[in-house]
Amino acid sequence: MIAKAYDGLEVLKGVSLAVEQGELISIIGPSGCGKSTFLRCLNFLEIPDRGSVTIKDVTIRRDGGRWRRSDEAQAHRLRAHVGMVFQSFNLFPHRTVLDNVMLAPRKVKHVPTAQAEAEARDLLEKVGLAAMAGRYPATLSGGQQQRAAIARALAMQPDVMLYDEPTSALDPEVAEEVLAVMRALDHDGMTQIVVTHDMRFARAASDRVLYMEGGTIVEQGDPDLMFADPRDTRTRRFLRSIL
Ligand SMILES: Nc1ncnc2c1ncn2[C@@H]1O[C@H](COP(=O)(O)OP(=O)(O)OP(=O)(O)O)[C@@H](O)[C@H]1O
Ligand SMILES: [Mg+2]
Repeated sequence: MIAKAYDGLEVLKGVSLAVEQGELISIIGPSGCGKSTFLRCLNFLEIPDRGSVTIKDVTIRRDGGRWRRSDEAQAHRLRAHVGMVFQSFNLFPHRTVLDNVMLAPRKVKHVPTAQAEAEARDLLEKVGLAAMAGRYPATLSGGQQQRAAIARALAMQPDVMLYDEPTSALDPEVAEEVLAVMRALDHDGMTQIVVTHDMRFARAASDRVLYMEGGTIVEQGDPDLMFADPRDTRTRRFLRSIL
């Protein structure tokens, strides 16, 4: 469960979610409903006011108190299990694609350079960018940059990947390359939570879809059932407005 307010405005009103290993969950909902805030609270990029998050062997509980140094240390441990991908790629512009992918394993995990490079090249192969290893981010298409960002997140061997609108800045055909990578990861058993406006992807690729509105999960379930016959009138209204 997570609750979060900004300046007295309750943005998350006690959102609870249990994720199975290997699940691909899509979170949909209108602008401002709290999707990004929820995702960011899961790895403590935003600090929830109340509630708890457990990933693997790390649990962090919040009960309205001050965020302490020991909490930050726990958050650091928790983040080691989480890869995050944003709408705006966020690659290091002055480093090659290969360096972008190698950097964190070398600096944070002290992986030897040769090993980090070999693993980075494998990941670039996996996301279809083997030929782009020596290029700088600015010379890549948006879709290629986003796939590089995914490879960079995977390099830290996360247990769960979080995506905040990974394809919103991309043309549809380029977006498809990124979505294909996420489907392949799903096939490999990666646990993934995706905030998306891409209803086709949410319906076709997810194990479960969550519909959020006003800081709560209004409805969740099997994507085909939910898109074909939403139970809640709010879900129905939202889907009708965008499909
Ligand atoms: N740092 C912040 N300070 C104050 N208010 C914030 C902050 N971040 C988000 N909010 C508010 O919290 C609410 C939820 O924002 P959030 O970004 O989580 O929505 P969202 O569902 O991701 O929307 P979108 O689809 O537009 O990305 C909004 O009302 C937003 O204005
Ligand atoms: Mg958002």
